[in-house]
Amino acid sequence: MAIDSNNTGKHQFDAVIVGGGGAGLRAALQLAESGVKVAVLSKVFPTRSHTVAAQGGIAAALGNVAEDKWLWHMYDTIKGSDYLGDQDAIEFMCKNAAKAIIELEHFGMPFDRLESGKIYQRPFGGMTQNFGENPISRTCAVADRTGHAMLHTLYQRNIRANTQFFVEWFALDLIRDSEGDVLGVIALEIETGQIHIMQAKTTLLATGGAGRIFQASTNAFINTGDGLGMAARAGLPLQDMEFWQFHPTGVLHAGVLITEGVRGEGGYLVNSEGERFMERYAPHAKDLASRDVISRAISTEIKQGRGVGKNKDAVYLKLDHLGEERINKSLPGIREIAKTFANVDPIKDPIPIVPTCHYMMGGIPTNLDGQVVLEGEKVVNGLYAVGECACVSVHGANRLGSNSLLDLVVFGKAAGDHMAAAIKINNTHKALPADAADKTLQRVNRLENAQGENVTEVGDAMRKTMQTHCGVFRFPDLLAEGVREIDVVEKRIPNLTIKDKSQVFNTARVEALELDNLIEVAVATMHAANNRTESRGAHAREDFAARDDENWLKHSLFYKQDKQLTYKPVRLKPQTVESFAPKARVY
Ligand code: FUM
Repeated sequence: MAIDSNNTGKHQFDAVIVGGGGAGLRAALQLAESGVKVAVLSKVFPTRSHTVAAQGGIAAALGNVAEDKWLWHMYDTIKGSDYLGDQDAIEFMCKNAAKAIIELEHFGMPFDRLESGKIYQRPFGGMTQNFGENPISRTCAVADRTGHAMLHTLYQRNIRANTQFFVEWFALDLIRDSEGDVLGVIALEIETGQIHIMQAKTTLLATGGAGRIFQASTNAFINTGDGLGMAARAGLPLQDMEFWQFHPTGVLHAGVLITEGVRGEGGYLVNSEGERFMERYAPHAKDLASRDVISRAISTEIKQGRGVGKNKDAVYLKLDHLGEERINKSLPGIREIAKTFANVDPIKDPIPIVPTCHYMMGGIPTNLDGQVVLEGEKVVNGLYAVGECACVSVHGANRLGSNSLLDLVVFGKAAGDHMAAAIKINNTHKALPADAADKTLQRVNRLENAQGENVTEVGDAMRKTMQTHCGVFRFPDLLAEGVREIDVVEKRIPNLTIKDKSQVFNTARVEALELDNLIEVAVATMHAANNRTESRGAHAREDFAARDDENWLKHSLFYKQDKQLTYKPVRLKPQTVESFAPKARVY
């Protein structure tokens, strides 16, 4: 049944937040507690958002295990980003990290404890003491279910603060007026199929990642780049889309995440010869080097014939030496996952793992207040973005593990503060354009064309292209072919249809509309990757194997219209400390 344009609900809020994960909930809390009328739209029940799957922890230089400083954390993050991260944003995040953890603790987040009673911290990749000297325990954890604990804590605080939730509502498009200001979103109420206009003085995108552009991913099925699709269709650029993180340890064939916390607790990788091969690739940090380095090492071991298993297409993650008691206490979820998805009990046997798509470093460009920015740092009035869908950019070309939960809460709060202040200054709703919902209704209703293409087949073509052409190592012929292929897949999108009308709750319709968003992300990724002729962080090209600071120390901006790519400089100047100049990156 087509969506009826005469049956459009209208709602007004001071702030509308799209996404009920860690970033959206942290911003919502800030707004609700300052008296702002705030709505959170979430296509799943908020505590099922992907933050719930974050395992290993959240970084902050608390110094509970050994001496630590936020400046060391800042240095590690800049180095981890392969110098593409904006140093003022990284400074802001690392400087505010300890405060954010204490705040979470006061909200009721049940962090693990040391004997001393202080918050427990474990080592994570690339986190060091004294500018790279020794690995340090900087990652605060709730066993291996840190995201779960954080999300439930933030949700409960929001309930207390009277945040209004619209659950199983799927945001479709931004409303932009002729001046380019954002005035809210158009949304689909999934159960009824009704379209709603959510008018807002400020709109925040907190829609998370888009790892479902790949065949093998640690991401939930809901991670479909919805905010990026909305931004791209509204004419906004997507930044640094060539940089995708492959987590070194996804369960072979299942893709489910095995936390880096396993290696933080003392687990390590071995190849088919029983060799602890990371000693060759990262002599100092070994299994706690940064993720891009470890994923490349694993891929190389497999390519050179030292993989394990029937097809020699994995390596082993060994943790049995940690002992049953420690595994049950600190890594209980990992033991369950290994039993369920790899059919091994890690207290006895190693887990077969492979690098698996995990995190999108790029996203919607923002400033430190979460405002969406155009070239020249000009802000888009009324629009904000935080979390994985945003690119502020604190992760640059490679994110350090446990910096993403930190990013969510630090920038979620900053955006909430800025939105609350903006609403106070400008407390009226701008008039909506008369045709606000027209394009969206056309897009939704095109799916009724019974002659169109099958959503799963087109989605599979996209996922196969991305997996084959844009993986851990990138090759010139594969990249060029990948661009041609993804452009062909994109042309099939306007012709999608939903044939199976028997499905309840509009699930087929939502899947089709999610593919509209995924394709925007996939196209931007392929084009940006093909165009960047250097290797930096997670973007490793066979034909340009070195980092090229002279020509490429800059962010990419991809525009959907004309598939145009432009570039802007990295912000190398922090606000209160000296810059860290790019240097060779070794672990
Ligand atoms: O390995 C992990 O626990 C993942 C953490 C992260 O991506 O930050």
